[in-house]
Amino acid sequence: MSNRPTSGPRAGRIEQARQQEARKVARRSFLRVSAFAGLTLFVGGMLASFLAFFNLRSPTGFGAPVTVGPGEIPGPGGTPERNSEGRFWLVNLDGGEGDVQGVGGTGGLLALYWVCPHLGCTVPWNPAFDGGAVGHAGIVGWFRCPCHASTYSKAGVRVFGPAPRSMDTFDVEVNADGSITVNTSAITSGAADPPNPLRAIPYS
Ligand code: FES
Repeated sequence: MSNRPTSGPRAGRIEQARQQEARKVARRSFLRVSAFAGLTLFVGGMLASFLAFFNLRSPTGFGAPVTVGPGEIPGPGGTPERNSEGRFWLVNLDGGEGDVQGVGGTGGLLALYWVCPHLGCTVPWNPAFDGGAVGHAGIVGWFRCPCHASTYSKAGVRVFGPAPRSMDTFDVEVNADGSITVNTSAITSGAADPPNPLRAIPYS
């Protein structure tokens, strides 16, 4: 049985002390929860900054998958599209276009890495260059390196100059909405099999 008084001045003091203690406990709990929430926010913020700094959350651009919308994809036989984000030329070969060695290309999309396999200059598309100067009269429009004149067909096939191989390529995947994804994290050498014209992906 408890000896605690239930009425009178002493009982009032005990009740007051009990309420003060309860308030202290509530305040301590509140401070603990606040400190924990603050720490969580701090750690979360640090983690987000870390991921953003090292671009780990959703890497984009060169070295990652690059999506190209349908509006940026040239039609068959159209002018190659320069993609600065992924550092490639997107070409849409019309049938055997660019298959200057007759390997049996049937057309489609190719993503050509724009770095020249010779010494690394950026290779531009030259729409007015006549292939007569490189043994392919009648074909106008070539990739031609400004540094040492290595010349490549629209499929990136080397026909002239000091470059040791054709232009390198990236894998292309066609998405359901008509866009494409170019995987710039994996470069396929222009010297690898199959040759460039046979790497083209059908696109309609
Ligand atoms: S760097 Fe392109 S031909 Fe030399």
